[in-house]
Amino acid sequence: MTTTILIREIPASAVYSVRLTVLRPGRPLAECVFEGDTIGKTFHLGLFMDENLIGVASFMQNSNPLFKEAEQYQLRGMAVLSEFKGQGFGTSLLIEGQEKLKNLVKHPFLWFNARDSAIEFYKKFGYQTIGEEFDVPGVCIHIVMFKQL
Ligand SMILES: CC(C)(COP(=O)(O)OP(=O)(O)OC[C@H]1O[C@@H](n2cnc3c(N)ncnc32)[C@H](O)[C@@H]1OP(=O)(O)O)[C@@H](O)C(=O)NCCC(=O)NCCS
Repeated sequence: MTTTILIREIPASAVYSVRLTVLRPGRPLAECVFEGDTIGKTFHLGLFMDENLIGVASFMQNSNPLFKEAEQYQLRGMAVLSEFKGQGFGTSLLIEGQEKLKNLVKHPFLWFNARDSAIEFYKKFGYQTIGEEFDVPGVCIHIVMFKQL
């Protein structure tokens, strides 16, 4: 039997389960609701394996004072269920999001607070770090990363 992999846009409410499992295990579901989830041009991508949601990523229109670019988006909640890590699904979500942003605005600039454990993943796609590392209490050490798409 062949496996079907599909990425499609999903509502904010659909991303919470994967966020909880991967990014906030053992925490209240309310911590998986992020500011900006339902505003403006925010969109959420879900990666489905045979109709089961196994990965999510959210792209929010949000400016960071560190940058002067006009068309800034923030990547949040990038997560692939642990049993499916390392199979290219994170790559597919990131590439799809980048392409959607390029269709949405003229000069998209993508930034995010990267977990220190994921820095090397993002570097593979040309993202750079800026500034000092900082702690997100109860989560882990992060650093800002960015790229002009
Ligand atoms: C980080 C994450 C989204 C990557 O998704 P993934 O599906 O596992 O990644 P891919 O299989 O597409 O990996 C692409 C490449 O990056 C590498 N890679 C993936 N995660 C990595 C990591 N954390 N550190 C270093 N390299 C990593 C892979 O080995 C692969 O390398 P290759 O091209 O040389 O084979 C996923 O592992 C995850 O959800 N991690 C836990 C939550 C997390 O850290 N999210 C990011 C928050 S900022």
